[in-house]
Amino acid sequence: MAMQAHPVPEVRVLDAAENAVPLLLGELREVVARNARPLVSFATGGTFAAFFRSLDAELRSGQIDGSGFVGTHLDEYIAFEPNRRGGMVHELTLRCPALRDMLARGSFLPVPCHGAEGSLRAHEERLARAGGIKLQFLGIGRNGHVAFNEPGASFEAGFHVTELAETTRADAAPTFVPDEPPRRAVTSGIGTILDADRVVLCAFGRGKAEAVKAMLQADVSHSCPASALRSHPNALVLLDPEAASSLDAAADVAS
Ligand code: GLP
Repeated sequence: MAMQAHPVPEVRVLDAAENAVPLLLGELREVVARNARPLVSFATGGTFAAFFRSLDAELRSGQIDGSGFVGTHLDEYIAFEPNRRGGMVHELTLRCPALRDMLARGSFLPVPCHGAEGSLRAHEERLARAGGIKLQFLGIGRNGHVAFNEPGASFEAGFHVTELAETTRADAAPTFVPDEPPRRAVTSGIGTILDADRVVLCAFGRGKAEAVKAMLQADVSHSCPASALRSHPNALVLLDPEAASSLDAAADVAS
């Protein structure tokens, strides 16, 4: 399928992945400027490492006011409390210690890691009371997953417990050596992700190229959960040249 002249989502191919950092900080600044204490949901993963380094510096220097927004995140391995090595909150707070301070102050809302139905509905209510997610940062798995919505996931679901795909476990394995990577996780559902006012997805590196092509140029399909973003009216996709390398008609994509 050819790219539309003004695709939904907007797609930008950057000269290099690090060029995403000022754009991501700009997204955060803008949402903080436009809303009273907006709820901002972060993604974990290596894709956002450089962003979190810069975010930490900006929060510490006060260039971005940490009391100006409420933070949360997408997903957590089952039974990984925020201080457990390898867990998503642990990874986030290692990369951005200022988020640990927000967690301690109660202005970062961790995903309930045990997956009990009541705790997940309570978490959704907490997010709703915080005004709903104004800005959602997203990565993508090489199998097209977003958060831990693996191929076949519902496009309507809220927070739920899911089994991890084997590629996802393989990608996570180095973090857990000598133990096995987790098999199950709590994840934000695609319905919740699509409810965010603004979604910004980043994909960098050749390993993401086929998932990016399926997300943007194959049919919208449960086989590529990220393709659900094509129905979001306010989504931005930031790619580096390697992640964009399998796209047809790349010239139609803004750079
Ligand atoms: C992980 C997480 C996602 C993350 C994605 C990409 O498994 N569930 O939240 O965005 O996969 O990870 P990475 O940025 O390390 O490639």
